[in-house]
Amino acid sequence: MPDLRFIAHSEDETDRLGQALAVCLRPGDVVTLNGDLGAGKTRLVRSIVNALADEEQPVNSPTFVLIQQYDANVPIYHMDAYRLANEDEFLAMGADEILEGDGICLIEWADRIADALPSDHLRIDIEAGGPTMRRFAIAATGERSTAITQSLERELSAAQ
Ligand SMILES: Nc1ncnc2c1ncn2[C@@H]1O[C@H](COP(=O)(O)OP(=O)(O)OP(=O)(O)O)[C@@H](O)[C@H]1O
Ligand SMILES: [Mg+2]
Repeated sequence: MPDLRFIAHSEDETDRLGQALAVCLRPGDVVTLNGDLGAGKTRLVRSIVNALADEEQPVNSPTFVLIQQYDANVPIYHMDAYRLANEDEFLAMGADEILEGDGICLIEWADRIADALPSDHLRIDIEAGGPTMRRFAIAATGERSTAITQSLERELSAAQ
């Protein structure tokens, strides 16, 4: 069961979720983004990155780069496991050092590298319910991610 559900009827509302998440995330946090092609994983990353960066940053699926780093108040690493065959390929890119480091890690298609993930991460499943409607199911897997969902819940109700 997800700890939190959020429905966006527009990209602006997805931005609102990204802005709230940006307030709650801390160095070292790992967020996984799951959902079909075009669900909105990259779009949510863009919302989070631009909430944390001083200047607008272009955020695209890091399909070819695989690991993209953004300049923000905290380093943000954006990874995409779509093209990876397995966890070994992920670790060969130096991903474990990044996961254990002091950045915020946002990982698309993380189910493909499930065994390489830290046990405590925030899991976000995204589902399209129409052209601009998206359902976000947010679940904690440990102590830190539970704290994130709690502060996210407060942040979302305060921002209403
Ligand atoms: N409310 C919404 N939230 C997020 N994206 C939306 C929303 N409404 C429409 N969209 C559109 O849905 C698309 C989401 O694409 P995005 O690249 O984020 O998907 P993705 O899950 O990263 O796919 P991929 O697996 O191919 O990387 C974009 O074209 C975006 O403009
Ligand atoms: Mg993407």
